[in-house]
Amino acid sequence: MTSVHVKASSEYDVIIGKGLLDQTGERTAALLSPRKAAVVSDDRVWPLYGEQTVSSLRRAGIEPVYFVFPAGEASKNLETWSRMIMFLAEAKLSRTDAVIALGGGVVGDLAGFAAAAYLRGVPCVQIPTTLLAAVDSSVGGKTAVDLPQGKNLAGAFHQPALVLCDPGTLSTLPEDVFLDGCAEVIKYGVLGDGAFFSELERVPVREQLLHVITVCVGMKRDLVCRDEFDTGARQLLNLGHTFGHAAEQHSGYTLSHGRAVSVGMAMIARAAAKRGICTPETSGRIEDLLVKYGLPVSCDAPAEALLDTVLRDKKIADGDLKLVVPEEIGRCRILPVPAREILGWIRDGGGR
Ligand code: NAD
Ligand code: GLY
Repeated sequence: MTSVHVKASSEYDVIIGKGLLDQTGERTAALLSPRKAAVVSDDRVWPLYGEQTVSSLRRAGIEPVYFVFPAGEASKNLETWSRMIMFLAEAKLSRTDAVIALGGGVVGDLAGFAAAAYLRGVPCVQIPTTLLAAVDSSVGGKTAVDLPQGKNLAGAFHQPALVLCDPGTLSTLPEDVFLDGCAEVIKYGVLGDGAFFSELERVPVREQLLHVITVCVGMKRDLVCRDEFDTGARQLLNLGHTFGHAAEQHSGYTLSHGRAVSVGMAMIARAAAKRGICTPETSGRIEDLLVKYGLPVSCDAPAEALLDTVLRDKKIADGDLKLVVPEEIGRCRILPVPAREILGWIRDGGGR
């Protein structure tokens, strides 16, 4: 069992260890003493871990209510969110009760945003059940839903009261969902820890899950504590996301988020090498590791189409875009690049 303490506008622990799911009730009770807890989950996670979670709550004297919605990004919208907050109202959840997000990033973002808005804020316990949610979305307080105009366009910063990460739940993850998380894990290595990157080259993520999650959460904690509201250093976490988001959107979301980040990371590394910001060896190591994990490093979208999507996504027609570029393994920098130069970067990254 490991624990990472986050000191943002509110403080909380991220506890990581096998068997934690069965301790949901006692740990929530010890921290928040709620009378009731609303467990939010999707219809793939709920049949796997719902009963275990509500049993644990009952054992701790907490009355569980639950809200389950169809799994997938398509549910991350205002409609699901408004049904969710009306459910909380129907269940008469009070400010001293708790919302429990049991699932991946979609559940965490939706439940977190509902907890941020309902009664102007109720405590939220995040229980991530995907690798991506464990290393990224469950920590740091970003919550959101998608709008027809774009991804994550409505949301709030609402730090969780507690994060309970039980790596045992990752055993049921489909391989492709697990690999999506691996792309984010590799991102952390490129961003801030060369030794960790080397470990990922030597030892598969699956064989060192507890260690991997603890290292990534520690790095995320450091960035969130420096820049909780995402105006500076936290933007480093967008490594691979500018071109990645564009590839994801251009594919009509058939390319998953993690795979899109992998493509985006490989593209920005190739472009950085071409422009002498990092060496070709650095770019090659990043690409090789992504390939080793079975992740894609290119996409067939035309460069102009990616450019259109980047500019629409960032809502700018001109002005600067902030690209996160690798300088070496373990060190990246935020580089403002004029919009008119982005096409050149996409082409240098291998875009056609
Ligand atoms: P997800 O929540 O859709 O989960 C992927 C799939 O895995 C779903 O079908 C889900 O039902 C299933 N699943 C989850 N846990 C399982 C388990 N233990 N066993 C079997 N199946 C399981 O997707 P995700 O990749 O976890 O998260 C992606 C979302 O996270 C996106 O909406 C993205 O915008 C968001 N995100 C948010 C942040 C943040 O800081 N808030 C950071 C990164 C990503
Ligand atoms: N996942 C990006 C962030 O939390 O800032």
